[in-house]
Amino acid sequence: MTLQRDSLAGAAPPAGIAPADFARLSALIEQRCGIQLPDSKRVMVEARLRKRLQQLGLTSFADYWRLLADAQRREPEMGPLTDALTTNKTDFLREPAHFQVLEQSILPRLYRAGVGGRTPLRLWSAAASTGEEPYTLAMVLDQWGRTQRPFDFSILGTDISTRVLAHARQATYQQSAIAPLPEAWRQVYLLRARGANVPAPYRIAPALRARVRFGQLNLMDPDYGLPERVHIIFCRNVLIYFNRQTQADVARKLTRNLLPGGYLFVGHSESLHGVDLPLASLAPSVYQHQGFPAASRGAA
Ligand SMILES: C[S@@+](CC[C@H](N)C(=O)[O-])C[C@H]1O[C@@H](n2cnc3c(N)ncnc32)[C@H](O)[C@@H]1O
Repeated sequence: MTLQRDSLAGAAPPAGIAPADFARLSALIEQRCGIQLPDSKRVMVEARLRKRLQQLGLTSFADYWRLLADAQRREPEMGPLTDALTTNKTDFLREPAHFQVLEQSILPRLYRAGVGGRTPLRLWSAAASTGEEPYTLAMVLDQWGRTQRPFDFSILGTDISTRVLAHARQATYQQSAIAPLPEAWRQVYLLRARGANVPAPYRIAPALRARVRFGQLNLMDPDYGLPERVHIIFCRNVLIYFNRQTQADVARKLTRNLLPGGYLFVGHSESLHGVDLPLASLAPSVYQHQGFPAASRGAA
């Protein structure tokens, strides 16, 4: 294997993906992950897959497609393929208006109804990427909770990509990543990461990490299998990769995992306008669940 890799090191990069193979690959990705890969993404896909071909010791995209066409060899490859083709861009405090709506309007309402006090608040970040979104939410909730005692919450972060989930669980970040966080929050919620193998200098403090757990979940799954419905869902900047029908299907399944009266946040450039669901618009890209008819109340 090492020999093979070495012998490839100086070799010319593989030629591009043949149009027919690209069409099959994008159909496979859309079917499994929901992500659309139009022809305009071909160069990006080639660039992202070159490293994977090298790791596998393959010299052409045709060989890679032959691997994916073989059902037995395809399944173990779906994880690395998904890791390579998902776009994981995220930031701490991304789209800050959402956190203002949360703190100024939604948390007081929920708290008055006993959520966070009598019962813990449950929040789900459904495309959590490397963790910046769920940890931002944990900071916002913790800050808000400092004004209300007792205040209890838990956050579930899920993503399709195991690579980003490993990063999220490790919770270490570069200086550039933590830049959006106010200095006062950095003092409370970040520690200097120590150890020879630490990949980045800052780590989320243990008390905050204890509030957030992570798991793999594909939004294309027919049943999300959450143990309980939640009060708030953040599903931001992932629906944009899906076609309209998939967006509607995912929104329906998310809504079924939301408690009546709960809140759904999508990305600022995403809209559920025209999707037939019991959701009322509360603020730009923030929706409130209006309650299902009793017959369809089962969780998706
Ligand atoms: C652009 S990031 C958005 C991260 C974060 N929500 C934010 O707004 O900053 C999109 C994330 O969606 C994940 N994703 C893509 N397809 C998915 C699917 N079918 N199920 C679950 N997660 C998916 C990707 O792995 C990626 O981490």
